[in-house]
Amino acid sequence: MPSLRGRRVLLGITAGIAAYKGAELARLLVKAGAEVQVVMTPSATEFIGPLTLQAITAREVRQSLFDAAHEAAMGHIELARWADVVLIAPATADVIAQLAWGTARDLLTTVCLASEAPLVVAPAMNQAMWRHAATRDNVAALLRRGVDIVGPAEGEQACGDVGPGRMVEPVEIVAALGARFGGGRLAGRRVLLTAGPTREALDPVRFLGNRSSGKMGFALADALVGQGADVVLVAGPVALPTPRGVERVDVESAQQMYDAVFAHVAQADIFIACAAVADYRAANVADKKIKKDGTETLTVELVRNPDIVASVAALPQRPFCVGFAAETDDVEAYAEHKRRIKGLDMIAANQVGAALGFEADDNALLVLWEGGREALENQPKPRLATRLVDLIVERFDAQTTAQDS
Ligand code: C5P
Repeated sequence: MPSLRGRRVLLGITAGIAAYKGAELARLLVKAGAEVQVVMTPSATEFIGPLTLQAITAREVRQSLFDAAHEAAMGHIELARWADVVLIAPATADVIAQLAWGTARDLLTTVCLASEAPLVVAPAMNQAMWRHAATRDNVAALLRRGVDIVGPAEGEQACGDVGPGRMVEPVEIVAALGARFGGGRLAGRRVLLTAGPTREALDPVRFLGNRSSGKMGFALADALVGQGADVVLVAGPVALPTPRGVERVDVESAQQMYDAVFAHVAQADIFIACAAVADYRAANVADKKIKKDGTETLTVELVRNPDIVASVAALPQRPFCVGFAAETDDVEAYAEHKRRIKGLDMIAANQVGAALGFEADDNALLVLWEGGREALENQPKPRLATRLVDLIVERFDAQTTAQDS
């Protein structure tokens, strides 16, 4: 059984008799570690009940483009972005024609048109339909665009004909998917990352904090799992769900974050410091609520917190270290300076200020490393995270190869 751990597979089921094998296919994909979201065309539900697939995948099956409740939760564009791979099995002659022509008449074909994820198609149809010149042209068009066509197999068909057109067995489809997308570029690697703000207590009810939402760090954790990494996420106080497959350690203060990082860093191949850590904490935390009676001013003495990422980068046996820099001006110069003084392998810098960076859903980053740079344009944080992970993997691989040789 190949590993598809952490892979997000959008499984499209269309209206062929082989749709009944969709249940077995979904089960094998889940067993291989994939997260599976089934999208059925309306007529596919004549062949197999959506409830069966929902029970297997633990996700509600999506069927309609015009479903207000589902669109509000995860709209068709989000669905298209969510997928690491789109697999259509069985794929009828009709859906293959629609894909070739780029039509978007139902949820599945709309998602295919909107998705940049690789597309794998397992055709299933009557042998004469498969051999028809129209289907041949449509399949050729898909192949030219880099679509993977798995099968069809030859043999006896449900209609009594014998010839090519049977859907290849689910176990073979999963094997084909495993060969193409299994493992991931960080399979077997451990990544430790920090995310969110820290809270520095002043007294039992008050704290010093900052505006970090944690969205970027959580999106990164998700993208890292998508590349097959084992991820430990040390999170400050944020209101975000834990990405699937991630081990989460919740902390409040910078000191707790430091302790949690150092409890895990020895096993880490890569450390990413995405948290907005408070530079200072109160020298003395009042054990009772501070009263304002009779005082017009209040002075709080602050002391420096340890710099977590710089401390990790200073370890003799250290992971590949990535930091972030939020700057209001002269972004590149300040970020490069920060990269050097903290001893980081890579730094991702962004300009902060009005409506940029913190709390926003979109962001742009300038990524710097020794002898290189890449600007990642303004885009939603999940997509940005995927791009940043690609860069981290490239630099990490280059460094590991250089150390080995
Ligand atoms: O120095 P500055 O706070 O701007 O640096 C930002 C980078 O350093 C981020 O990667 C942040 O997570 C990390 N950092 C840290 N520990 C601190 C302060 C910042 O790990 N105490």
